[in-house]
Amino acid sequence: MTTADDAPFLQLRDLRVRYGTADSAPVVHIDQLTVKCGEFIGIAGESGAGKTTAGLTVLGLTRHAGARVTGSIRLAGEELVSAPERRLRRLRGSTMALIPQNPAAAFSPVLPVGATVLRALRLHGCTRAEARRRATTALERVGLPAEHLTRYPHQLSGGQLQRVAIALASALRTRLLIADEPTSALDVTVQAEICALLAELRAAHATAVLFISHDLALLAGLCDRIAVLHQGRVIEDRPAANLIAAPRTDCTRRLLAAAPRLGAPAAPGPGEGSGEEAAGA
Ligand SMILES: Nc1ncnc2c1ncn2[C@@H]1O[C@H](COP(=O)(O)OP(=O)(O)OP(=O)(O)O)[C@@H](O)[C@H]1O
Ligand SMILES: [Mg+2]
Repeated sequence: MTTADDAPFLQLRDLRVRYGTADSAPVVHIDQLTVKCGEFIGIAGESGAGKTTAGLTVLGLTRHAGARVTGSIRLAGEELVSAPERRLRRLRGSTMALIPQNPAAAFSPVLPVGATVLRALRLHGCTRAEARRRATTALERVGLPAEHLTRYPHQLSGGQLQRVAIALASALRTRLLIADEPTSALDVTVQAEICALLAELRAAHATAVLFISHDLALLAGLCDRIAVLHQGRVIEDRPAANLIAAPRTDCTRRLLAAAPRLGAPAAPGPGEGSGEEAAGA
């Protein structure tokens, strides 16, 4: 399971994800994408580009939605495309985890959030005492008092709930975190806090992060590299600063034009504003 520092921790090759019949056009078609331990990678792209599908496929979750997945996903050298569900379930929540756009989706509405956190830790081998200790420490690390563990999801704000989700990933010592638009439901100040926490998590555990967003300004400030998806394909994959300074494709230029904090005024049009509905994948 160990990887040398420069070896890819996650490697996608010839990854194709199709819905419908075997000859329908793939919605994700990634020839090659690699992520090293501790790398922070942005996955950018317009609505419908395949970002969520790519992320959920790495977690083994598109199978449940009837997707056909071919090609290779290697995580720390282990092939996931052909892995049995039991194995994927074990990896999810320990080695890899999802921070969804809507954090409420990660918690049961009928349980205090602490029960979800403790159950996840217990499932991954912690004793009751160890789980409690880790949960409390992780919550304090994200700036929440441990009493918040006794609250139900609806008793926490979106930002607080997202912090609990990050605390859980930290307590589980997740090696790969897939964050799918984790801040788009939050205001700008809370958004910055959540991004800072993800950066801390990465520093603490050398967690690799795939940060999915259509917001290139946000990604530029966070990521080592940005891969731009267009119609399921990676059309640019370069160091973030480099990609922002000299975009090579029209798609990247459009994304830049829609990112007001990078200076260019947002182009009015059908893609503008709140076109980012939660993908129901
Ligand atoms: N369960 C599904 N069944 C059929 N098609 C799907 C399913 N989930 C996603 N798709 C299709 O796959 C394509 C990619 O969708 P995806 O949700 O990955 O895009 P996205 O880049 O995350 O978009 P957004 O920025 O709007 O969240 C879309 O054309 C979508 O309609
Ligand atoms: Mg999406």
